[in-house]
Amino acid sequence: MPESECNSSLTCGSLALPTALPTTQTSENGARLRCISCASTPDCATQDFRCAACGDLLEFYFPGWSPGSSASGQDNLDPSLLKAVWLSRRTSRNALDQSGVWRFRELLPQIPEEHVITLREGNTPLYSLPRCARAAGVENLRAKHQGMNPTASFKDTGMTFAASAALQGNFKWVACASTGNTSASMAAYAARGGMNSLVLIPDGKISWGKLSQSLDYGALTCQLRTDFDGCVRILNELVRQKPVYLLNSVNPYRIEGQKTCAIELMEQLAWEPPDHIIVPGGNLGNSSAIGKALIELRELKLISRLPKLSIIQAQGANPFYRSVREFGGQKLESMTADTLATAIRIGNPASWKKALRVLRETGGEVEQVTEVEIAIAKAEIGADGIGCEPASAVTMAGLKKLRQRGFVKAGESVILILTGHVLKDPDFTIKFHRGDLFEGTRDAAEAAQARHLQRAPVVLDANLGAVMGALDAVSRNS
Ligand code: F0G
Repeated sequence: MPESECNSSLTCGSLALPTALPTTQTSENGARLRCISCASTPDCATQDFRCAACGDLLEFYFPGWSPGSSASGQDNLDPSLLKAVWLSRRTSRNALDQSGVWRFRELLPQIPEEHVITLREGNTPLYSLPRCARAAGVENLRAKHQGMNPTASFKDTGMTFAASAALQGNFKWVACASTGNTSASMAAYAARGGMNSLVLIPDGKISWGKLSQSLDYGALTCQLRTDFDGCVRILNELVRQKPVYLLNSVNPYRIEGQKTCAIELMEQLAWEPPDHIIVPGGNLGNSSAIGKALIELRELKLISRLPKLSIIQAQGANPFYRSVREFGGQKLESMTADTLATAIRIGNPASWKKALRVLRETGGEVEQVTEVEIAIAKAEIGADGIGCEPASAVTMAGLKKLRQRGFVKAGESVILILTGHVLKDPDFTIKFHRGDLFEGTRDAAEAAQARHLQRAPVVLDANLGAVMGALDAVSRNS
């Protein structure tokens, strides 16, 4: 970004560092920044993406889209025209059109094409889950698998957008604190864009698969002797002192890119919204993004009603669940989080106010699920031939609870958002199938319920008789 576009150090913060965000007046579709609490509308953001007036988070909004505004009747926002343009881009050879994020660029802040870093993210499949549907007691259950993105998690949809903003801002370094997926994604997009990346991850608390990705993509990877929340604290201090572009989901560009999961989903459903969408909750950026998209799609008359967006947390990492259930959303008490679903091992979620707003506006619910419930749900999703990482499986475990409570009815349509690929955390999967996952823990007794789903590998002598014997034994029992 040219210095003249955003008079950085005066308007955007006390440090003479390059700022991240372009002036919003230049955005063709009128995207502007706004604080979610005090509604002030800064022209650009500080290094930590917090409101200079009150310290809360910023978001993008589109003044032209509100009813009655002069821009709301614009031809380029005509719902049938937009749907036709997006569909026609599916056959294009242009890299932007081939991306499941940039294909929907009319609904995103504008970034010039020369700064765009894309790995053709998005374009993720919608799968039916017949076995899971039976287990949950619903007739119509599908999964939108965001683990089918280039770095195998949903993070790529937000990262293509925010990394491009970093390139536009002429940053040499980008950074994030992560439980493993954000870092893998950031490292990949930074490498593609020719930027350096700094990763702060909790030592020993992320899967090897995710760690190996950030190494391979060339990031400076620091394993800090703390948890995710400790990594966030250190990074927030760092970005105030160094010209490093923050790529955690407090960055509103991340949220904008992640909106496209919901836009693409609605297109896959022929713009007929489902009754329920169920999302895992960690730092709560994803639920906020999906909810924001749904609300905007209704505002623009691309859909006629809102699905209920429900958020599921692991019981050992449930600050948002407790905020809603115990404090009526009035406050959030941070906690020391612990769960084997390491991606959502987060005790102080940054975007909880944004998530609360979409929960309220869509009429969704919150739920919490135990470690054993997560493991069983993950194996059930695997048994449907799909698979996902543990954090994604909280959606299926949560659905069962929402169904038991009567919040989800048998005849209603449900979409689970699966956030990460099954290969992200093979250790969890192997330990589960070998029956070791809960050995020696207080969950060992409850884990007995999972035995029917376990498929431990069988070690045999290398002869035909041994293999035939194994085959016969399984055939007799099935
Ligand atoms: N599922 C997976 C696979 C994740 O990696 C994450 C978050 C979530 C769900 C929760 O999403 O934070 O937007 O509520 N992972 C982050 C990371 C925190 O650093 O990779 P959220």
